[in-house]
Amino acid sequence: MARPAVEMRSVSRRFGPIEALADASLSAYPGEVHALLGENGAGKTTLMRVLCGMLRPDGGEVLVEDRRLPPGGTRAAAAAGIGMVHQHFTLLPSLTVAENVALGTREGSGLRLALDRVHARLAELERVTGLPVDAGAPVAGLSVGAKQRVEILKALYRDPRVLVLDEPTTVLGPQEVDWLFGVLRSLVAGGRTVLLIGHKLDEILRVADRVTVLRRGRTVLEAARQAVDAPGLARAMIGRETTPAGRSAQAVGGAAGERVARLEVVGVRGEDGRMAVREVNLEVRRGEIVGIGGVEGNGQRELALVLSGRLRPSSGTADCPTTVSLIPQDRSAGGLVPGFDLAENTALAFHDDDAHRRGPLIDWAAMRRTAQEIVTGFDVRVPGWRATARSLSGGNRQKLLVGRELARAPDLLVAENPMRGLDIAAAAFLRDKLVELKRGNPSVAEVGGAGGRPAHAPPGIVLFSTDLDEVLDLADRVFVLVRGRLIPVPEEERNPAGMGRLMLGSAGA
Ligand SMILES: Nc1ncnc2c1ncn2[C@@H]1O[C@H](COP(=O)(O)OP(=O)(O)OP(=O)(O)O)[C@@H](O)[C@H]1O
Ligand SMILES: [Mg+2]
Repeated sequence: MARPAVEMRSVSRRFGPIEALADASLSAYPGEVHALLGENGAGKTTLMRVLCGMLRPDGGEVLVEDRRLPPGGTRAAAAAGIGMVHQHFTLLPSLTVAENVALGTREGSGLRLALDRVHARLAELERVTGLPVDAGAPVAGLSVGAKQRVEILKALYRDPRVLVLDEPTTVLGPQEVDWLFGVLRSLVAGGRTVLLIGHKLDEILRVADRVTVLRRGRTVLEAARQAVDAPGLARAMIGRETTPAGRSAQAVGGAAGERVARLEVVGVRGEDGRMAVREVNLEVRRGEIVGIGGVEGNGQRELALVLSGRLRPSSGTADCPTTVSLIPQDRSAGGLVPGFDLAENTALAFHDDDAHRRGPLIDWAAMRRTAQEIVTGFDVRVPGWRATARSLSGGNRQKLLVGRELARAPDLLVAENPMRGLDIAAAAFLRDKLVELKRGNPSVAEVGGAGGRPAHAPPGIVLFSTDLDEVLDLADRVFVLVRGRLIPVPEEERNPAGMGRLMLGSAGA
């Protein structure tokens, strides 16, 4: 085999008591898509941050094309041709797409950005990758999927020899994933190297040539694509036999109860002045999961905000309950505060809950108890009780957020892509939680002791997802959201192809 483009040898890195990387090795060759797999908290992001020079390892070495990379320098890594698309957004919302792309490049380093050059190059990238970009648009108004595309373009713009993508597909729709994989294949066909992190094994195995599996900071498997399958990889990640993910309980069915939310001909004007949501009628009842499939940016954000009472519709009426939990698409808005610790992040949702107050003051002892119950109940791997959200791995942040919102025992739960970033076991666990929750299983409603409400009054659940299989598996009633219109999916179209047809068929309407 040719010499590796990247070789990481026995890399270690601690964060206080946590051994994030113990003995991690990886060799990735020119011309391959190399998948990096592992459970939430296994050390994938940490290893890639070492490669990009963002983190100084405690031990081990990093070689790029046989040359040793000086530890902990982002400049040296960039000069060696390493580029990365991060797990969390790095864009500055107040700047335009082109300005964000140019930041930190030669064009962007002068007093004035050489934006005409950036626009020209973006137009070329648009042609080569087949991805439309609105270079002049401010990032603040973009959907999460569009932001992700900008992050990817920003990395491609730098034309890296080695491109690292940390869970790039979690917010992309099926066509966008195909688009991305096409781009990745053409990059490696040109002799470049792609390092790809993800949790959906079937998806990853479609594009990968080789895989490396990390378990608790150690490399436990390195193999060619042909030599592995999804169950074998899952076993390597967890370190033991696994029960097939999810599917433990039949999700669909059950008696829907009283109505908890009603939208009547609701319209919402988006930030760009166009109608983001159009004439939506929807009723949600206790004990049912309403699944809404569709590609990000078709009104999901606005509809979720209206349902959760955080946004007033521009037209029509919205009748929603007072206790609503929202798992928002944009985790930076209404999700977790990175600099807050576990109890403080818990307080964001429980600060006006009677059981968590003493008169006008927050009862921090109660808040910490609830935080602990969430952490235990959802198996959030935390480095300590004073840990900030920032110090949690991506999937563990997600578990904390989802756990907190479920613990509030809401009348209505509005969840946008709640499985995003979760590893196989955590996703299966959450799936079962959602099913238990809609059935009114008290063990879920009582997580966090946030009760007060009778445990057997299950919430209504609205599940937005870009993953059509997830919607089909969980939802009692299925819709697609296309250009702001909510289209019911008839029984005979309850399959990915049928939903895809409905989404396409309405695209021109
Ligand atoms: N800045 C930090 N401070 C303290 N601990 C950290 C920090 N960054 C990472 N860790 C810890 O290191 C471990 C590995 O985290 P990492 O983000 O690399 O996991 P991951 O494999 O990317 O997981 P995920 O699939 O959830 O994204 C975790 O236990 C995490 O809490
Ligand atoms: Mg990660």
